[in-house]
Amino acid sequence: MTIIADRCRDIDVTVVDIKKEKIKAWNSDRLPIYEPGLEPILRSRLGKNLHFSHNVDQAIFEADCVFISVNTPTKTNGLGSGKASDLKYLEQSARRIASASKEHTIVVEKSTLPVKSAETIKTVLEALGQGKSYEVLSNPEFMAEGSAVNDLLNPDRVLIGGDSASACNQLSAVYEQWVPKEKIIKTNLWSSEMAKLASNAFLAQRVSSINALSAFCEVTGADVLEVSNAIGKDTRIGGRFLQAGPGFGGSCFRKDILNLVYLCEHYGLHEVAKYWEQVVAINEWQKQRIAKIVTEKLFNTLSGKMIAILGFAFKKNTNDCRETPAISICKYLLEEGACLKIYDPRVDEGQIQTEISRAAVNKTEKIKVNKDVYDAINGTDAILLLTEWDEFNRIDWQTVSKIMRPPSWVFDTRGVLDSDIIAKEGLKYWRLGKGDETTKTYEIR
Ligand code: UGA
Repeated sequence: MTIIADRCRDIDVTVVDIKKEKIKAWNSDRLPIYEPGLEPILRSRLGKNLHFSHNVDQAIFEADCVFISVNTPTKTNGLGSGKASDLKYLEQSARRIASASKEHTIVVEKSTLPVKSAETIKTVLEALGQGKSYEVLSNPEFMAEGSAVNDLLNPDRVLIGGDSASACNQLSAVYEQWVPKEKIIKTNLWSSEMAKLASNAFLAQRVSSINALSAFCEVTGADVLEVSNAIGKDTRIGGRFLQAGPGFGGSCFRKDILNLVYLCEHYGLHEVAKYWEQVVAINEWQKQRIAKIVTEKLFNTLSGKMIAILGFAFKKNTNDCRETPAISICKYLLEEGACLKIYDPRVDEGQIQTEISRAAVNKTEKIKVNKDVYDAINGTDAILLLTEWDEFNRIDWQTVSKIMRPPSWVFDTRGVLDSDIIAKEGLKYWRLGKGDETTKTYEIR
């Protein structure tokens, strides 16, 4: 909405939420999320044509177009529990729009939703919004956290799904103020909803594919960085989203795939459901596998050992730690008896404590969150790098070698550190998708 306000000065954008504290945070001096490049643009439009308000009904009444951007978490009980999306916030939003809107409103689903969700919105609006008219569009969002501003300013495509050509054209006109027309794709409602789920499923599938191969590289002597570089040079495959790592995190991939799995099962497509479920299964396996390797390298016991966790966010340039692989990996290490010292340049201590206490009950006294990377490393037996923050490339390994307990291990799950410099300081180095070069011999079959 900040980008729309910035690119379309003639449009008044009001962001509303039923939670007053959320709105207060967006109007305060400290934004509630870290997103590079967002703050200056937001500040330049705030109070002009960009407003944050908790007066939901008034904003709906004044609007020509309402975007529904509510969360759709995975259901935790009832039908479809653990897989299907909970659409209660979507339904509540539709009800609120039906009661507060004026005579004609374009309603846009921006949240990622199961295919056919627009039907729910339409049914509610038609049943409750008597005497008023609505057009429902699907306009899924493809930006990624950490690069959101650039993704929104220069999108690969904008997708608008809907039955009404006039409503589609009105929404298209908003994007056309900065997005080339040929990048705006118009489809029917269901294709648009499906394309969003499918895009995330494809991206996650690439990550699971390269992660599966990372394990294969480690046992055969291949190097996953060389392999992904070679694969990615094929223009039919392309080089992006081929970085092996500790598993995908974030609020979307797992949820969206499970949603797809649920829908496939619902329609009796059990083989298709199993296919996509495996993408999630490999992701869970990768996290367990990493914790197991760390344990094995530290003489099969983590009891009495101290491990520095570098990075807690699910990727660099965000302070978001929803579904971050760090949560499961820390849980496994804590279960093995390790003490953890965690450092992340952007994630708050409170957030880390909350996530760990939720995942590993009664283990929070075994973790310490440090504000300085060297304090986190001091006295540890091993470093486990989980997020690829750029600042980790500037670590002084000579200093590190003096403050760790030997034999000191560095486990690099993102393949971003310089192994030569680390080895020169007498530290042992293991890299995901390559393994430990110093001690390994490979079986030839
Ligand atoms: C993802 C999609 O990339 C966006 O297009 C989509 O709009 C968004 O979900 C959404 O549905 O809201 P996001 O979750 O912000 O965006 O982050 P990604 O950059 O996709 O990364 C997801 C996870 O995959 C991260 O944990 C990242 O470290 C991991 N990843 C990504 C890899 O391990 N290797 C890669 O090569 C790429």
